[in-house]
Amino acid sequence: MALGPGAPPRLRRGVSPNPAQAREAFAARFDFGPDVVAIAPGRVNLIGEHTDYNDGFVLPMAIARATVVAARRRDDAVLRACAVNLGREVTLSLDHPLARQPTDPWVDYVLGVLAQWRTIGHTAPGMDMLIAGDVPIGCGLSSSASLTMAVLRAVEHLSNTEIDGIEAALLGQRVENVFLGLSCGIMDPFVIRNAREGHALLLDCRSRAFEHIPVALEGYAFVIANTGVTRGLTASKYNERVAECREAVRTLCTTSGKSGTHLRDFTLDDLKAAQNAMEPITFCRARHVITENARTIEAAAALRAGDASAFGALMDASHASLRDDYAVSCDELDAVVTIGRAHPACLGARMTGAGFGGCAVLLVRRDAVEPFTEELLAEYHRAMGIRGEVIVSGPAAGAGVLH
Ligand code: GLA
Repeated sequence: MALGPGAPPRLRRGVSPNPAQAREAFAARFDFGPDVVAIAPGRVNLIGEHTDYNDGFVLPMAIARATVVAARRRDDAVLRACAVNLGREVTLSLDHPLARQPTDPWVDYVLGVLAQWRTIGHTAPGMDMLIAGDVPIGCGLSSSASLTMAVLRAVEHLSNTEIDGIEAALLGQRVENVFLGLSCGIMDPFVIRNAREGHALLLDCRSRAFEHIPVALEGYAFVIANTGVTRGLTASKYNERVAECREAVRTLCTTSGKSGTHLRDFTLDDLKAAQNAMEPITFCRARHVITENARTIEAAAALRAGDASAFGALMDASHASLRDDYAVSCDELDAVVTIGRAHPACLGARMTGAGFGGCAVLLVRRDAVEPFTEELLAEYHRAMGIRGEVIVSGPAAGAGVLH
């Protein structure tokens, strides 16, 4: 790896990536305009946490924060990629086997997509590429899947080959599982690729059947609150939870006599019958997953029915289960949830994403969002000494190419 010549252009950080701006910045950096500008949103999971790798159900929506990738095909097998927000640029030959770049881990997501693109039988195109975005990094809003899905859209366009939305999500998951060694489920790339504006997406992570459900909770909006902390523990604790779930499945197969492969295959009664045969921690982990699957199905029904109170109550129960049984919350997330729930305008609150910091999502009366946000941030600052951040976003569309 070598740093390419010239400094990457600067766009303002944390500003919505304006495609026209990205196009201009690309032209300023690479002399010509891009062949394609692709965009992919971040996502917030409304409910169904740590269920995807258990073959269960999730209910996320895409948000109006996004990654923009401007790209132009080159005649040689060279990748020149420039990450505007980070002020970094990397030039690499694609002739060699694609290897991770420890000094520029952001480019691993680009290389991971190209490696998987090859795996499904295509040629990785040489490219000049500029990446910009405003999905907060490491905060549970899936900046990484946003990047991989934007890169994939660009690569598809430059290769004149469009793949199916489910195949694209699976490719995104393999970037994490195979190239980066994280045992992530399919939720993030799936919703980021396949979301529909105005809708949440209910996904059965086993069959990959999905349903777009209008987000129409009359008079209520989802508020995302970023605790401003990331624990760095996420990858190791995440893989530990995956292993604990597998352990629970092994015991449940023996005690129930069923030949299940994932926690999805077992009921709460199966689990209760197995309680004495497993470690208390394993029991709690499995109880979270089994009850969370049920809550997700109920929450989808509440969303279809426009029942904000029922949806809020399920969010509360989800948070309690993630905190007490799955142990993936932290003091800051608990503080945001408790402070938010103490406000009369808030009907439900929970941590969202992998946990150990990052964001919470709260269901708040629409006409009270502004005072609610001010009070939440002030109270959180008083309690924890940290300045949080709030994002209010309706459900956005999935990844695409801008024309
Ligand atoms: C991360 C993973 C997802 C999912 C969530 C927890 O975001 O990437 O696959 O497991 O954590 O629900």
